[in-house]
Amino acid sequence: MSQNLHDYRRSYEKGALTKASIDPNPLQQFRTWFYEAKETIGEGEVNTMTLTTIGLDGFPKGRIVLLKEYNEYGFCFFTNYKSEKGLSISANEKVSLSFFWPILERQIIIKGIASKTSASVSSNYFDSRPIGSKLGAIVSDQSSVIENREVLTKKLKSLEEEYKNKEIIRPDFWGGYLVSPIAIEFWQGRPNRLHDRICYTLEGNDWKIERLSP
Ligand SMILES: Cc1cc2nc3c(=O)[nH]c(=O)nc-3n(C[C@H](O)[C@H](O)[C@H](O)COP(=O)(O)O)c2cc1C
Repeated sequence: MSQNLHDYRRSYEKGALTKASIDPNPLQQFRTWFYEAKETIGEGEVNTMTLTTIGLDGFPKGRIVLLKEYNEYGFCFFTNYKSEKGLSISANEKVSLSFFWPILERQIIIKGIASKTSASVSSNYFDSRPIGSKLGAIVSDQSSVIENREVLTKKLKSLEEEYKNKEIIRPDFWGGYLVSPIAIEFWQGRPNRLHDRICYTLEGNDWKIERLSP
């Protein structure tokens, strides 16, 4: 059963990151890297990120969610507030978001504080979703154990009937979180494992910029 992957290796040589070349504001630097990633990868995958929370059981858990908006205040994703991640965030608002764009040999790791977006921000996004996604959000009691898949398809069918001629309103248990960053690390792969790591840390209203050893 054991498989040895010791020879799986690649050399990273696509770019460099220096304190002199980066933006003094990490959100601006994020904007630059996100744009370059979108131009290279396309819109389909560029906004997938790993959200890590500390669970009620004390274990960290990472899972993919989609970045749906970012601005000077932080990074926004949408989910079910009663899901495992939602309950985790209620108990511990400290979270991490990370991006890996292999083709650019880049990683970004964000530490931040998660808070629910306003009802209007959540509803605006919910209203912009296709009908199927709206109903899917209502159908899924996300993270709960279910007997089988039919439970979902039956519930969806009955909701499709119920909402045939009715507006679908965002349920209270579904909405957005804004992650306000307190630290953002940019990682650029370099040859011989001497990668570039530049970390911004929030100190008061200012961002301290430091180079970290790879
Ligand atoms: C590509 C991709 C995108 C996803 N986007 C979201 C998302 O935006 N929001 C969300 O709640 N779950 C999303 N998921 C599902 C989550 O990874 C996860 O399975 C779900 O949110 C339940 O997580 P939890 O039980 O830890 O709360 C996505 C999964 C993948 C693979």
